[in-house]
Amino acid sequence: MCGIVGYIGTQQAAPLLLEGLTRLEHRGYDSAGLAVLGGSGLKVAKQAGRVRDLADGLPKRFGGKIGIGHTRWATHGPATDANAHPHTDEAGRVAVVHNGIIDNAAALRAELTAEGVVLASDTDTEVLAHLVARSSAKTLEQRIAEALGRIEGTYGIAVAHADFPDRLVVARNGSPLIIGVGDHEMHVASDLAALVRYTTTLAHLDDGEMATITAGGFTTYALGSIEGTGRPGLTATDRRAKEVDIDPEAYDAGEHDSFMHKELLEQPACAEAVLRGRLDERFGTGHLGGLNLDARELRAIRRVKILGCGSAYYVGQMGASLIEELARIPADAEAASEFRYRNPIVEPDTLYVAVSQSGETIDTLLAVQEIQRKGGRVIGLVNVVGSAIARQVDGGIYLHSGPEVAVASTKALTNMFLAFGMLAVQLGRVRDLSIADGKRLIAGLTRIPEQIDQVLATEADLALVAKRLAEAESLFFIGRVRGFPVAREGAQKFKEITYRHAEAYQTSELKHGPLALISPEVPTVAIVPDDELVERNVAALHEIAARGGPLVVITHESVDLGDLEGIVAGRIDVPRNERELDPILLTIPLQVLAYHAALELGHDIDKPRNLAKSVTVE
Ligand code: AGP
Repeated sequence: MCGIVGYIGTQQAAPLLLEGLTRLEHRGYDSAGLAVLGGSGLKVAKQAGRVRDLADGLPKRFGGKIGIGHTRWATHGPATDANAHPHTDEAGRVAVVHNGIIDNAAALRAELTAEGVVLASDTDTEVLAHLVARSSAKTLEQRIAEALGRIEGTYGIAVAHADFPDRLVVARNGSPLIIGVGDHEMHVASDLAALVRYTTTLAHLDDGEMATITAGGFTTYALGSIEGTGRPGLTATDRRAKEVDIDPEAYDAGEHDSFMHKELLEQPACAEAVLRGRLDERFGTGHLGGLNLDARELRAIRRVKILGCGSAYYVGQMGASLIEELARIPADAEAASEFRYRNPIVEPDTLYVAVSQSGETIDTLLAVQEIQRKGGRVIGLVNVVGSAIARQVDGGIYLHSGPEVAVASTKALTNMFLAFGMLAVQLGRVRDLSIADGKRLIAGLTRIPEQIDQVLATEADLALVAKRLAEAESLFFIGRVRGFPVAREGAQKFKEITYRHAEAYQTSELKHGPLALISPEVPTVAIVPDDELVERNVAALHEIAARGGPLVVITHESVDLGDLEGIVAGRIDVPRNERELDPILLTIPLQVLAYHAALELGHDIDKPRNLAKSVTVE
């Protein structure tokens, strides 16, 4: 969602800020803007539309070696030029960019209007610029502390002020902010993707922290209150920048047409990374130290509740199935976005699992906090190290997928499944899962990277099938039991980037309604693993075929489709693993189908319309 960049140093700020904003585009946005501070004061350029439109329309004289920039995802007010950030005070001396939401913005807007301030936008953020401008405190930092003291809500902000031309000030509460240290220059961003090209010496601000940034360095403070007065105040903290081991290439699509394609093909290597050092082949179990749970604590768990949003929720359903089958503990997954609104019962012997690639998804984060408030224990399956959810949980499993830039999640989702595989085996092995079964599953997990590679090697065939699917306005994705979350994820990926209507259904439920929609215009992608349900699944395919519905079947070589063989529009065989682990191998071709269908339709694959990489607002 919204993105922040900032620069202070010896170079012209605008080109660097535009480059940074381009690197944040994948997060999703609908307007963009810059403010630079130069010899002639503060200059602002902002407009609805793409970063390249902003770059094209930038005034010739837009010089300045200090600046802030923003990509906005509309929340308060539509995507218009006026609502784009940065926002300024009436005199145009303070510029603010902001990620997050100010909950009491309406009251503050009303108060400012009553005091005679003419508001220039519909946004919540604008109030911050006016509040900073109206403070009479001596330092910029204290002015900002006072403004922040008035607001309720979440923020990551960067502020430039014409009266303080040697600095930028940034602050964080619930929205990430990272400072990058360069050579006589400093960068700021809300996402690593905008920084790594310039520096890998980084400092992550904590919630409740502010930093003053000059060309030569930075100082940090904790936001609090001045003793005895109750007025907002600042106490110096000692945050230092650290050299971080990041490969800047990971943020580059290289020879690929999109990050999604690059990330699809990275999956075998990423899968190896998440398994590395975590498989105990001798005792047939997982070795997940980050859980912070010993065998006795694992044994005491009586229920597992998995929470995530979108694809993280669907892979959570795959995980719940794995845990129930292998550990025989009741397990289920629920959309984190719904969870806390039904006053959930939180039990002390339930293990709660929060699943999130970004670690920033607000619904998942708020669900974690609600559980913890009620005394529950939460572990995280998170990809982004140090992200909000990773820091909030009581332990967990990092996914080690490397940065995932495309909005459509592929490699992180695969690693979520593998993390669930290891967790299920470890939970099983402290219960009734035999050492032989444990070894069987550990061996199965070990084979998965190579088997993913085999599926990806069929990309050209999958592309042909995808072309046919791209022609349909509406599709079904069906599967049963282990195969149903696979179908849900397949439909999710397809609709996300092709904009086609793709609906997932349990194969067993077809007869109870959706069969009425089957026609030659509505293809069905069916998940038919060679498992205990294969005959029933094939029978359902006959019912679809009898009504003229085109079929694409994701299956195993050993499955006999009988006389359907001659009429299916596509048959995709994936390598077999252990039955419990098959879902992920059945998922990979669905990712590739979605990618090639979107390519065929000419969509912007990495930046699907209306979507953001991390959903940081409710
Ligand atoms: C996945 O392709 C989607 N972009 C989306 O459903 C995503 O999985 C969801 O928003 C959760 O994101 P997270 O994993 O970063 O929490």
